[in-house]
Amino acid sequence: MIFTDKVCWVTGASSGIGEAIVYQLATKGAKLVISARRLDELEKVKIKCAELGNKNVQVVAIDLSDQESISAAFRAVKNVHQRVDYLFNNGGLSQRGLVSDSESIEADRKIMEVNFFGTIALTKKVLTLMLNNGFGHFVVTSSIVGKFGFPLRSTYSASKHALHGYFESLAIENFNNNISVSMVLPGRIATSLSLGALNAEGKVHGEMDEGLAAGMDVNECAKQIVKGVALKKREILVGGKEIMMVHFRRFVPALFYKLAARIKPT
Ligand SMILES: NC(=O)c1ccc[n+]([C@@H]2O[C@H](COP(=O)([O-])OP(=O)(O)OC[C@H]3O[C@@H](n4cnc5c(N)ncnc54)[C@H](OP(=O)(O)O)[C@@H]3O)[C@@H](O)[C@H]2O)c1
Repeated sequence: MIFTDKVCWVTGASSGIGEAIVYQLATKGAKLVISARRLDELEKVKIKCAELGNKNVQVVAIDLSDQESISAAFRAVKNVHQRVDYLFNNGGLSQRGLVSDSESIEADRKIMEVNFFGTIALTKKVLTLMLNNGFGHFVVTSSIVGKFGFPLRSTYSASKHALHGYFESLAIENFNNNISVSMVLPGRIATSLSLGALNAEGKVHGEMDEGLAAGMDVNECAKQIVKGVALKKREILVGGKEIMMVHFRRFVPALFYKLAARIKPT
């Protein structure tokens, strides 16, 4: 019942975890706003929502690396709904490149632009609306590598760490304003995330990781995320046994370093 008639805006809704979250929310009677760059994929998601019995879906294009696109998307949502109850900041870009592979920081800037600056630019706009309406809940798809570093993902990991600091601050600043934050920390989820990941030169990796392909089913992942959000959990760890690494890093760091150096990073 929690999501019934609530305006739920999901970024990165054209595939993977975001798409699966949309279907979970669709069956719970949410008023959906779905965003990403690929409008053709979003239209397919909208059709599937209708098949699930939910026709209340607004498709809004967004490019998280483009401030003007973020502003236009916000205006479009505000015009239709005048409110956002839940913002699922899920759109993101991964990385498959060693620090030593390139001296250029072009790829690093692109990853930070989408994962961090794009996310906070949208968040700042939506927060004003939430404060006016007296309610809001931000759900942020971080990663287990938002809690520790991991090979081939230096800047990706940094962008996710940055989100933790940012949203913890936002949550404390708004402790008395009825604004909640849930950080989602997926381990390996079976999506095509590695295909669009950037290598050290900023080129698309274009390969499906074995580890990712063998990851948790994306619908199970979305189910656990939506359940955690409904319970207003501050952190939602989701995935297979790899999520134990978060606890190893915190409580037995020496073991964590040994294991992390041994795990195949692709
Ligand atoms: N799969 C995993 O194992 C895993 C683990 C930890 C964290 N995550 C996080 O989960 C989130 C979703 O990833 P996924 O696994 O579901 O992979 P995915 O299927 O590749 O989804 C990524 C989504 O982000 C969108 N996106 C990428 N660049 C964008 C941009 N510039 N502007 C707007 N949207 C953009 C994509 O849409 P368009 O291409 O249509 O724009 C797509 O909908 C990401 O934040 C990722 O870091 C995933």
